[in-house]
Amino acid sequence: MVSATKPYHIAIVGATGAVGFELLRVLERRGFPVKEVLPLCSARSAGTTVSFQGNEIPARVLSEDSFQGIDLAFFSAGGGISRQYVPLARAAGAVVIDNSSVFRMEPEVPLVIPEINGNDVREHRGLIANPNCTTAVALMALYPLHRAFGVRRVFASSYQAVSGSGARAIKELRSQVEAHAQERPPQAEIYPHPIAFNVLPHVDGFLPSGYTKEEMKMQNEGRRIMHLPQFRASVTCVRVPVYRAHSVAVSAEFERPVSVEEAHEVLAKAPGLELVDEPQNNRYPMPLFTAGKDNCEVGRLRRDCALENGLSFWVSGDQLLKGAALNAVQIAELL
Ligand SMILES: NC(=O)c1ccc[n+]([C@@H]2O[C@H](COP(=O)([O-])OP(=O)(O)OC[C@H]3O[C@@H](n4cnc5c(N)ncnc54)[C@H](OP(=O)(O)O)[C@@H]3O)[C@@H](O)[C@H]2O)c1
Repeated sequence: MVSATKPYHIAIVGATGAVGFELLRVLERRGFPVKEVLPLCSARSAGTTVSFQGNEIPARVLSEDSFQGIDLAFFSAGGGISRQYVPLARAAGAVVIDNSSVFRMEPEVPLVIPEINGNDVREHRGLIANPNCTTAVALMALYPLHRAFGVRRVFASSYQAVSGSGARAIKELRSQVEAHAQERPPQAEIYPHPIAFNVLPHVDGFLPSGYTKEEMKMQNEGRRIMHLPQFRASVTCVRVPVYRAHSVAVSAEFERPVSVEEAHEVLAKAPGLELVDEPQNNRYPMPLFTAGKDNCEVGRLRRDCALENGLSFWVSGDQLLKGAALNAVQIAELL
């Protein structure tokens, strides 16, 4: 643990995972007031150390007693762990920021993107949910347009990086790329098919409607975050062989007419977003360049030729940051 010089005792559940690693980096980078960090993991990683502010801190195995004396607990260890341990963390007096989807639709749990509905944090009762990563990236561009033109519905397709499925999926893509180079058959464990040199129109489990759970999150979570119960989103989520940063192609229909020039003006001023829209110079957002960046990027703006008052655009953002760790720390800063 880190020496006691700053105010908050912080637990990170899932500190040895992809999001946990980024949480530690974001806390360091933003100078969050930390008195002590307690990294938590499963028995698998017991003894592993994580680095924080120049110290190597041994990760501890998560247990029912992990939260004594903790002020703030970040959860990023999957839904099952959140369901079981978030109540214990709250009972021990910690405020929880949860990255899983378990509590996102509970009416008394604020679901927050600070640039959009930061005020909702005030309603919290010891638990705040972090939104789905694809939804977060898409809303960073959609919400400012909604404020200006009133969104009715969207059609969208996502291009989701493997790091969205955690550290093991990053290894899976890497080993499949190596296998391909050596003309060996690829081994698929995390995904049902090889992801290297492929795209999978399958993210999360299928629902009876034919959509996946992931695909419905943009509509369901978008309604809560934008305070827009009529919002409709028909989404196809696709896993692509990209290591990091999700991209989303969006066609949106608005209440009011929208021109590309007006949309540019709105998006250029939006917090947490950069307008990269010079297609004639081959400049548009790409995951290779949004990976590792706090800001999301939006570009390829054009009037949608099939929708009334429609605008099509392309948004890309680091889902480990804006879709998870950065957003979670921004929520903690609001607190
Ligand atoms: N990756 C993303 O882009 C992203 C974005 C938004 C939200 N999320 C959510 O964040 C969570 C973590 O995702 P991730 O991508 O970081 O996954 P990950 O790389 O697989 O990491 C999972 C973490 O959870 C820990 N863990 C797993 N089972 C545990 C158990 N029984 N007890 C204690 N710790 C346990 C793991 O510890 P060990 O090292 O011991 O296995 C590891 O630290 C998930 O709920 C995911 O849906 C992820």
